[in-house]
This record gives sequence, structure tokens and C-alpha cells, in this order.
Amino acid sequence: MEDWRAELEALEREGQAAIAAVAGVPELEQVRVQFLGRKGRLTAILRGVAGIPPAERPAVGARANTAKAALEAALEARRAHLEAAAREAAVARERVDVTLPGRPVGGGRLHPLTKILQEICAVFVEMGFQVVEGPEVEWDYYNFEALNIPEHHPARDMWDTFWVNPASAGTERPMLLRTHTSPMQIRVMEATRPPVRVIVPGKCYRYEAVDASHESQFHQVEGLAVDTGITFAHLKGTLQRFARRVFGEERRVRFRCDYFPFVEPGVDMSIDCFVCQGAGCRLCKGTGWIEILGAGMVHPDVLARVGYDPSVYTGFAFGMGPARIAMLKHGIEDIRLFHGNDPRFLRQFA
Ligand code: FA5
Repeated sequence: MEDWRAELEALEREGQAAIAAVAGVPELEQVRVQFLGRKGRLTAILRGVAGIPPAERPAVGARANTAKAALEAALEARRAHLEAAAREAAVARERVDVTLPGRPVGGGRLHPLTKILQEICAVFVEMGFQVVEGPEVEWDYYNFEALNIPEHHPARDMWDTFWVNPASAGTERPMLLRTHTSPMQIRVMEATRPPVRVIVPGKCYRYEAVDASHESQFHQVEGLAVDTGITFAHLKGTLQRFARRVFGEERRVRFRCDYFPFVEPGVDMSIDCFVCQGAGCRLCKGTGWIEILGAGMVHPDVLARVGYDPSVYTGFAFGMGPARIAMLKHGIEDIRLFHGNDPRFLRQFA
């Protein structure tokens, strides 16, 4: 057999083997250049045609063309195969397994104190009160003086105070962390004319020993209503309505005399115990009643101090501790749980 024929057959055979062995599209191009390129093996064989008798040359050309066509077809088929495989691999990498279990998402929820604050405010908003807030760092004047509690007044002992800037330091205007929300009574009345109906939620601070029912930082909700013709009956009706909305429509309320220098008369309000229905139990300490807030008719001197004529206007005010109310409502025995950040406690209020 002629040399050229054997060479072309070997070229085709080896080319097919090389193409079949290629694993990626870039190597495929190298194989093409090696066998069919301008300086490749086929070109080298055809250069040798010069030494072949002219009569045989067409046969060489024809055989060379079939070898070239066969290799080109094999290259194309291999390329298509490799590209399809690459696409499939990419899809497999991206595939989402919709049967996998989901990752649990930790849902946020409102803190129980936030919830009770919102609930208390909502009850009063429904009755026409407006929610306002005020500063936690307060002047002695608003926290004490303007509320009929001058310096050295024994009632100051009711509120152990964190001083920012005490009078004893020779300051003209002593400053403190407010011990109650009552200073907002003065600020609201100074800023507006009657009629006034406000509800004031906010943080208060007292320098006192922390125990199951006392924190040194706690919330209060203050209420104030001033207008012509406001009587003690309005105070009772408003607070009874509040107690029933929060603790149940069947609740009874009881008012007893109490002393706060900025109200006259001053009272505390109790509800009949909703655990024993007034029979006496551990929650109400056997009395059948639970005290929930302090209140009273705004003292005429307080009204006069903010420029309201006490012969024209009267009003009532009240103050309560929402944490104590939440404790009663949910049977919580220690106020410190609210700020203890134990998720097992907080989760119960989902
Ligand atoms: C006052 O602070 C008065 N300003 C309330 C008031 C307003 C009376 C308007 C009349 C008219 P008292 O000191 O009792 O009152 O506090 C009111 C409520 O705040 C208490 O019933 C209690 O629920 C809450 N409270 C007081 N001290 C603490 C404390 N250390 N920790 C948690 N809650 C407290």
C-alpha cells in the first residue's frame, strides 16, 4: 500500500482517538490545530504529494478530504456533547431541593410591658384622652415644687430620688431623674388651656432597694383631666371603666383616702380580687381587694400655679404602675422577670 494512504489512515484513526479522549472544549481546539491546522499533520502529509506521480494525486486529494471531513464531523459532535454536559452540570449545581425542611425563623414579638402600656393607653384614648410623653431627666421644680412638695417637705421621703444635680451642691435649679410621671401634669397645663385630657406613659426612677415588687427603674402611666365642672364622680367613672376594661366587666372598685400633696382629696383605688372574687386568697392577701393606683382631685394650689383659675376649673389625676398591673393580670410573682431577658418568660406573651 502507498505510504500516503497509510499515513492518512493513521491520521484519521489517531485523530478520532484524540478527539474521543478530550474532556473539555478548550483541549478540543488544540486537537484540531494539531491534526487539521495550517501547520498540522494533514498539511504535512499533503506537502509530500509533490513526490507522488501526477496520476495518483487526485486519489490522494480525495482521501485527504474524507479524512478531514471525518475529523471535522467528529470534532463538532464532541463539542456538542461536551457543551451539553457542561450545561447539565451547571443546572444540577443550581437545582433547589424543594423537599428540604425549612430553617425556622425566630419571630419578633412585643415585650409584655409594651403590650400592657399599649393596652392601658388604648382604654383611655377610647375615652377621649390624648397620649403625651415627657422628659425623664427633670427639674426639681416639676417633680416636686410645683406639685406642692417644697424642699424639706416630709412627703419627699415618699420618693427616694436619684439626683443629677442636687440642691445641696448649691445649684439654683436642682435636677433629677423623675420619680413619677406627675411632673407632666404641670408641663401639660403650662403649655395648654383647658380642657385637658392626657395620658402619659413613661419611665421613672427611684433610689430604692430592688425586690419582687420594686425596681429602681419602672414605668408609670399618668392621667390628667381638667375642665369646668369636673367632679369626683368623673374620676370614679373613668377609673372604674378602665378597671373593667383591663380586668373584666364584672370587677368592682373601691376608693379609700390616701395622701398625695398634689391632690385633694387623694385616694387609692382597689379592685375586688379577680382570683377569689373577693373571698380572700394569697394574691389579695386575704383582704379580697387589690390596690392598683393612686388618684385624686387636682389641688387648687397646683391649678393656680400654672395659671388656671381654681374657682373656674377643676380636674382629676391618677398614676399607676403598668408592671404591677401586668403582674396581677398574668399572675407574675416577681417584677424583676420583666427585665431579666429570659426568653422562656417572654415567649409566654406571644
Ligand atoms: C405616685 O407616684 C403618684 N405620682 C401617683 C399619683 C398620680 C397620685 C396622680 C395621685 C395623682 P406612688 O408612689 O404610689 O404614687 O406610685 C404609683 C405606682 O407606681 C405604684 O402603685 C406602683 O405601681 C408604681 N411604682 C412605684 N414605685 C415602684 C417601683 N419601685 N417599682 C415598680 N413600680 C413602682
